Amino acid sequence: MHRKLLLGASAACALLAFAAAGHAAGTAAARPWMDPKLSPDRRATLVQQSMSLEEQVALLHGVMPLFLKPLPPGVAMSAGYIPGQPRLGLPALRESDASLGVANAGRKDDDATPLPSGVAMAATWSPQLAFEGGAMIGKQARQKGFNVLLAGGVNLLREPRNGRNFEYLSEDPLLAGVLDGAAIRGIQSQHIVSTAKHLALNDQETGRQTLNATMAEAGLRESDLLAFEIAIETGDPGSVMCAYNRINTVYACENAALLTDALKRDWGWKGWVMSDWGAVHSLKSATAGLDQQSGEQLDKQVFFNAPLLQAVKAGEIPAARVHDMAHRVLRSMFAKGLVDHPLAPGGLAVRADAAVSGRAAEQGLVLLKNQAGLLPLTTRAKRIVVIGSHADVGVLSGGGSSQVIPIGSIRFPAPKGAPPWGSGIVYHPSSPLRAIRARAGGAEVIYSDGADPAASAALARHADVVLVFANQWATEGLDVSLTLPDGQDGLIAAVAEANPHTVVVLETGGPVLMPWLDKVGAVLEAWYPGARGGEAIARVLYGEVDAAGRLPVTFPAGEDQLPHPQLPGAGAPEGFTVDYPEGSDVGYRWYAKTARKPLFPFGHGLSYTRFRYSGLKVAGGRTLTVSFKVTNTGDRAGIDTPQVYLTRSPGRTQQRLLGWSRTALKPGESRVVAITADRRLLADWDVHAHGWRLGGGAYAIFVGPDAASPALEGASSVSAATLAP
Ligand code: BGC
Repeated sequence: MHRKLLLGASAACALLAFAAAGHAAGTAAARPWMDPKLSPDRRATLVQQSMSLEEQVALLHGVMPLFLKPLPPGVAMSAGYIPGQPRLGLPALRESDASLGVANAGRKDDDATPLPSGVAMAATWSPQLAFEGGAMIGKQARQKGFNVLLAGGVNLLREPRNGRNFEYLSEDPLLAGVLDGAAIRGIQSQHIVSTAKHLALNDQETGRQTLNATMAEAGLRESDLLAFEIAIETGDPGSVMCAYNRINTVYACENAALLTDALKRDWGWKGWVMSDWGAVHSLKSATAGLDQQSGEQLDKQVFFNAPLLQAVKAGEIPAARVHDMAHRVLRSMFAKGLVDHPLAPGGLAVRADAAVSGRAAEQGLVLLKNQAGLLPLTTRAKRIVVIGSHADVGVLSGGGSSQVIPIGSIRFPAPKGAPPWGSGIVYHPSSPLRAIRARAGGAEVIYSDGADPAASAALARHADVVLVFANQWATEGLDVSLTLPDGQDGLIAAVAEANPHTVVVLETGGPVLMPWLDKVGAVLEAWYPGARGGEAIARVLYGEVDAAGRLPVTFPAGEDQLPHPQLPGAGAPEGFTVDYPEGSDVGYRWYAKTARKPLFPFGHGLSYTRFRYSGLKVAGGRTLTVSFKVTNTGDRAGIDTPQVYLTRSPGRTQQRLLGWSRTALKPGESRVVAITADRRLLADWDVHAHGWRLGGGAYAIFVGPDAASPALEGASSVSAATLAP
């Protein structure tokens, strides 16, 4: 007999509902929760009244189909699966990784479309493009039979050597949070759930499963947690994934301060917390706020099944907690449309979807250097030499659970030290060489693989322009150094020595060092540019679109500039501590605070035209509103992203991005833009008041093209306030 969980409703009501469900299953009266006019909370409550404790607990743990042999009928090969409950009209949760597209876990290749990497999406500074990318992969997920996307990676690029930076967005909490929220909204516009992940401080891969990340509360609230807070309030993800690591000694997935106090109480978020795969260590996580154990085969025990039931029956875990866990899962299923819009797998519109990816890629390419107008290329160049990075076949992608391997991808073995479960090094089939040839007019375009620097230099010597492609492969499970691998620095130096008209195109997961920078004419950071990457690179090189990307992360001049000159934990025994004394002074804030000059500052990126800023007005009061005029003073249409930074608050010098305005202007055109600061960015987290505290007085700002180049400066007075979290 079912043991019923009668919470929040009278026993009589519940019994009636149970009887109705039993006797007239399938009719509207028997399933009142199927009424879409009711609120998601009401629907979840109604269906729970018809569920046994066991049925509710069945929602709270899931398998990793990748490890099921044989795969049960109807279960797709992917990262996660939780069976449906047909009696109640509840669909299965079918989960796929999706940082950059519907991932391929265990399948060889397929027709999924990869977006550019997360950091490339962030380099667009465009919530609209992030939304469109999210909507595209959300639509593909539905078509491929998935209704939960393990997407929304918003960990800060606090550690530039983090091997997963390509899946994340930015070192700045506002930029990361706003774009992640937009991507999540895009995914969920397709009636599926997106996660935001990995809560929190999962900022490096070395030792990730057990490392203890420590940081004082104020710094944490103002940086990594603020990125999540903004992403969650903007995107309202159905689920949030807690991280592997420990935070101030407590595992993220059993960290009540994080999951219950911050996420659920302070931010008022109503979805369910799922664990990362293999991140559950005990039943303590249920009381701390974890709602679902994912990838249960990876933990030493399935805690959220029989042990959870037993603990409830023994009174060790309140039944109300289990009710809340199931309620959160069910509520998101109703709220995000999983129940009302059943999956209808079907064919993909591959071309149209690739165009979405391509549009984002070309807007996220960052022109870092362009001496004497070497770019854009013109058809005057009669001999072009293209070198390296398999530019003849495709563009690089990042490895790990997020890997998308579209049909036609080219694969190479992973280097030593890479996790054994990866798919090798994957090049997406969009050849820059082919796209360059298509635009080169009558020019001769020669390709060299770059394996022999002397031979490449000899070819380069007689070229009008040389395009050297260089890359750094990154993957989940492995951090990187900031030095380009495989002697590519030597190759670039040799080629640039032979011909100063050398353009370097970088395909990297994040920042790298450029010892050859002074010798080359131009540098274009292309990141991992996705399904149409080759095409996007060629379009920017030839100026078919403006170079519009801006750096969402600082490029250091050397590892010695970083808060941790050595990557923490390399070679240390498991469970080491990584302290982050810089707190919320991440990236550009760290460089400002320590008066260091990076190689390229956060926000930097050149356009093919020029812009001028004028007419600054700074209004104070409750917050700051900054307005100014942007003018395109060049002779080409272009897109600029002027940025507003706080530089001083009462009694304190500090730098914080307050906002930006991505502005497309024709030659000679001007536009007045206005940016109103989110008060949390002016405030400090006050541990005693447990809220944001704004000191009353003068707040100074600058407007500039990047974090290190003030163009207009001003200040205004803001009134004192304490804001609830
Ligand atoms: C990763 C998650 C991913 C999960 C499922 C973990 O190793 O950290 O980002 O969603 O695997 O594949």
